[in-house]
Amino acid sequence: MKTAFVTGASSGFGKACAIKLLENNYKVVILARRKEKLVELEKTYKDNVCVIACDVRDYKAIKKAVDNLPDDFKTIDVLINSAGLALGLGEFHNLSIEDMETMVDTNIKGLLYVTHEILPRMLENGGHIFNFGSVAANNPYFGGNVYAGTKAFVGQFSHALRNDVRKNNIKITDIAPGLCKTEFSEVRFKGDKIAADKVYENTKYLSADDIADTIMSIINLKDHVNINRIELMPVTQTWAGFYIQKDKE
Ligand SMILES: NC(=O)c1ccc[n+]([C@@H]2O[C@H](COP(=O)([O-])OP(=O)(O)OC[C@H]3O[C@@H](n4cnc5c(N)ncnc54)[C@H](OP(=O)(O)O)[C@@H]3O)[C@@H](O)[C@H]2O)c1
Repeated sequence: MKTAFVTGASSGFGKACAIKLLENNYKVVILARRKEKLVELEKTYKDNVCVIACDVRDYKAIKKAVDNLPDDFKTIDVLINSAGLALGLGEFHNLSIEDMETMVDTNIKGLLYVTHEILPRMLENGGHIFNFGSVAANNPYFGGNVYAGTKAFVGQFSHALRNDVRKNNIKITDIAPGLCKTEFSEVRFKGDKIAADKVYENTKYLSADDIADTIMSIINLKDHVNINRIELMPVTQTWAGFYIQKDKE
């Protein structure tokens, strides 16, 4: 039985991936801050689940949790770094320092902390790391500023890291979704459900299950195939093109 380690498993992509992996006979370590949400999964999948209620921004806590994984969850085959968030959708100069730091600390430093502690467990037997980037990394949209920058980091780090582990049979995939309905927009708009729902109004968006299906199909590719980056959007979403500021606007 293989083992996966999934961050951000209390909601959205992380949760959908954890469930998909459990349904495909994996044991799964599920990590997020909201323990009560993780325990719900544990109730259903019992001994195949190991719950870690932890903040990815807390390096010491991450190290301690990984060092103390139960024996039957110690060897990790698949790491899914899904914990992440966007805060706000305004101009950079109006973004609070606190929100800026939360995005950088979670999306960049948190992902690095978890990867740094899990990767050594893959060096011997190989493995697969999925890092959640975003279409925001390559498509600058209004208000994306810091969030887009953090996701560009995720993409570049994912590619660069492959150089370090090419001899260890470790696959690394930067998965970059577009519009997808999860708790993401509610978090971005700080609990303003009306603003969050507006994003998905009258359109067809991706579901977290679509993302989990995609990850599962990549996991099931032949051993020698690495998908470096995969970007996916709903059919309804395309690019806005260039914006030209005109006088008197
Ligand atoms: N939804 C989209 O449209 C979209 C598009 C492109 C990329 N993404 C990226 O995909 C990833 C997953 O997003 P999602 O859509 O699934 O959003 P979501 O439903 O809000 O889930 C985010 C998850 O991250 C966890 N998390 C946030 N901060 C954390 C922290 N400091 N420590 C530990 N866990 C933390 C949350 O759990 P707790 O609150 O319980 O800690 C939650 O489980 C993110 O990296 C996001 O940037 C999303």
